[in-house]
Parts: sequence; C-alpha cells; structure tokens
Amino acid sequence: MNKEEPKYGWYVKNLIIGFNIVGLLGLSAFVYGFLIDGVVKIILIISGLGVILVFLWPGIGMIIMHLLLLRKMPKIDLMARMKALDEIDNPQILDVGCGTGRTAIRIAKALMNGGHLFGIDIYSKLAIPGNSLDTVQNNAIIEKVEDKTTFQYGSATDIPFEENRFDIVNASSVLHEVHDPNGQDKAMQELYRVLKPEGYLYLSEWNRTSWQCIAFCGLCCYAFKKKEYWDKLLKENNLKDITYENITGFGIFSARK
Ligand SMILES: C[S@@+](CC[C@H](N)C(=O)[O-])C[C@H]1O[C@@H](n2cnc3c(N)ncnc32)[C@H](O)[C@@H]1O
Repeated sequence: MNKEEPKYGWYVKNLIIGFNIVGLLGLSAFVYGFLIDGVVKIILIISGLGVILVFLWPGIGMIIMHLLLLRKMPKIDLMARMKALDEIDNPQILDVGCGTGRTAIRIAKALMNGGHLFGIDIYSKLAIPGNSLDTVQNNAIIEKVEDKTTFQYGSATDIPFEENRFDIVNASSVLHEVHDPNGQDKAMQELYRVLKPEGYLYLSEWNRTSWQCIAFCGLCCYAFKKKEYWDKLLKENNLKDITYENITGFGIFSARK
C-alpha cells in the first residue's frame, strides 16, 4: 500500500525557475559573445555576465541551498533548541507563517505531554507553490497530528488571537517576507502581544551577512536582513533574555516576554 506523503513544497520554487531561465539566457549570450566580432561581442559578453551574476548565481545557489537545507532540516534539531517545550505543561504554541507546516508539524510531533499548536499564515503561493490552508491541514492528517493542531488564516501584523494567549510563539523564516510599511515592527509587536508574560519567542531568519547567504543567494541576499536588525527589533519591543545561535548562516533567536 502506498503511503501518502505530506506536501511541504519548495520555498520560492517559481522564482528559482524564473531566475534559472533568465540566467541561462544570460549564459548563452555570454558564450555567444566569444564566437562573434565587433561591438556586439562586447555588449553580449558584458550584459551576459551581468545577467549571470544577478540571476544564474542565486538561481543555482538557491537550488543547492534547498537541497542542503531541506535535507539537513530534520537534523537541525529545532526542538532541542525549543527548551520551553519540555519546561511547560500543556504548552499553547502559535506558529506564525506556518505555510504548509514544515516547521509547525515538527513542533506538534514533539508534543508528548499535552499542548496544542495553532498555525496562522496568509498562504502566499509565491513563497511556496501549493501553499494553502487545505494543504497544511492535509499534511497534519498525514503526519497524524491533526488532534494537536489548528490552522487558520491570519497575518503576522494582525494576529487573530487575544493578548497573553500563548506560552510559545515561533516564526520560522517569515518576518523577512512581511513587506508592508513598518510591517516587521508591527509583526514584532503582535508576537509580543499574544505571548504570555515570561512566554518564549523563537525567531529564525537567514543572516544577510553570513557567507552562506551570500554564496547561495548572490545579490538576492538583500531579501534578508542582518542578524543585528532582528536583535535590535527584539530589544526595541521589550523582549528579554535574547540568545542567538548561528546554524550555517541561518540563525535562531530565542527571547522571553
Ligand atoms: C519561507 S515560508 C516559511 C514557512 C514555514 N514557517 C516553514 O518553516 O516552512 C514563509 C511563509 O510566510 C508566510 N507569510 C508571508 N507574509 C506573512 C504575513 N504577513 N503573515 C503571515 N504569514 C506570512 C508565507 O505565506 C509563507 O508561508
């Protein structure tokens, strides 16, 4: 009998395909430039090189990053870093920007003694093709955590829960995608608002200035922020006991309300 597999999807898959198509056109122009003479030669070589740097580099880099990151993810023991999971009885957890549930469902699976995981997202298909409420709910059924999870629509900048509601709030690779004016500040205020006093916040983000981010993303590393940016935002929003762990360029902040 074939076991149905969860559909977590590739992050920014369509963007990766687009970048590689444009990048390969640039590579063709670059190579063709060496086969001809005249002014067009110079134009093709220079413009081809530009397109390779801007598109092909991150296009290929993001594929390598996905293969490394997604394979490595089960080994990156986020749960071991979420010490609060063991410390709190019946923990109430919110995963903001849960997407298809790649992180949320792993947290739910780690709940051994009660507790419940709530997940919210705006389900952007640009972020993950196939991203939807149906997908994450179906993944939870396949992974047998449907009784410990509740997923719904909701934005990080306007979290649909009352204040002081959660013991743990997690946001994995989400806040860099919040682009509304002051959106990241507003999101951080919301994460703080829904946390119980002394509750734990976990925030995972790529660090733009890490060599891994630059190597894999090229100029696209500008889609991410420096780790100092998130550190400042956490402090400005009154979070305390802030720690940071760098995992091959990807960082996990832990903080408390
Ligand atoms: C890179 S994916 C990460 C998904 C998930 N956290 C994980 O670990 O696999 C980013 C997610 O953030 C979501 N997102 C973007 N802006 C958001 C917002 N303002 N509020 C909630 N979710 C948002 C996207 O829809 C997408 O599912």
